[in-house]
Amino acid sequence: MESVDNFKSKFKYYKLNKPKPSLSEVISLVNISNHTDKATNVNPYKVSEDSRTDLLGLRNTKEWELYSFYSHPGLFILKNPFTSLGQRYWIRKCLEKYPRKPNKLNIDIEVLLPDWWAECFDNGACNRPLQKKLRWTTLGYQHNWDTKVYTDDNRSPFPEELAELSDVVAQYVGYTGFRAEAAIVNYYHMDSTLSAHTDHSEVNLEAPLFSFSFGQSAIFLIGGKDKSVEPSAILLDSGDVMIMSKEARLCYHAVPKILPAQTSPWADKEDLNKISYSDANFKYISDKKQLVSDMNKNIDEAVWSPFQDYIQESRINMNVRQVLNERQSSLTDYHFNDT
Ligand code: SIN
Repeated sequence: MESVDNFKSKFKYYKLNKPKPSLSEVISLVNISNHTDKATNVNPYKVSEDSRTDLLGLRNTKEWELYSFYSHPGLFILKNPFTSLGQRYWIRKCLEKYPRKPNKLNIDIEVLLPDWWAECFDNGACNRPLQKKLRWTTLGYQHNWDTKVYTDDNRSPFPEELAELSDVVAQYVGYTGFRAEAAIVNYYHMDSTLSAHTDHSEVNLEAPLFSFSFGQSAIFLIGGKDKSVEPSAILLDSGDVMIMSKEARLCYHAVPKILPAQTSPWADKEDLNKISYSDANFKYISDKKQLVSDMNKNIDEAVWSPFQDYIQESRINMNVRQVLNERQSSLTDYHFNDT
């Protein structure tokens, strides 16, 4: 007997614009007092400070808030740990740097652009249709959307700043050996959706997946290991970091709706303070001076303006995975199992 697709029904319900779906069941961590039966504030694995936070655009770990969900063991949300300047830095990386070649883009099948963002401003004015065409880019091990298989010859260097950011969050939740090896950056506009799927292409399915959201908000649906499980709807706002681990790592999830953000945490003038060079203990980042300069240049509103124009109508999500097993150096390295 065919099972009922409860995931699809919920997806359709939230996707519809007419009639507008009620948002009363959507778990919002901003209004956690309305959802105490569904989510709760929890203690992290690591409570000590991390010397890298400031330079990565993050607040001190002591100010971070971590939430878990009663119906979804292994699922956590770290409620916006970023400063306003930090949000600008990461939004800009996703637009200006990550869609550059050799990374793969959805638009490659139509046109091969070495530098998509520069191309959007080729004649001075902004080419909005080209801006809106970008839906994803892949980093590190390039996810093959047709075969869903990673291969060693389809791998580009993983951005060191994103590896560092992922490591800070991984340490905080107790995954001390996590290595960022692949990421998909998704770009959403107000009418975009992402259908139900599971992420199972990685060899290592024990390692968690870290998902960083910026810009406009989204309704995120997460269900179970098959589509008969009725999903929960969770509101994801700019700066939120979702951690899918253990039982939640292989669950169906989707984005049926983008919602206008209620606040603009990337534009909070009080929170746009310059950072200065410090003795951060980086694992991956080699050029601290460049990082400080890349971060601080976004304080200038004129420099920030094209990114502001994009993000006020869009959402960006970077989801980061470990592909290989702990002692494996490539997909064809089978010796890691030897004792
Ligand atoms: C994904 O599951 O690939 C992206 C989820 C999101 O956009 O929040």
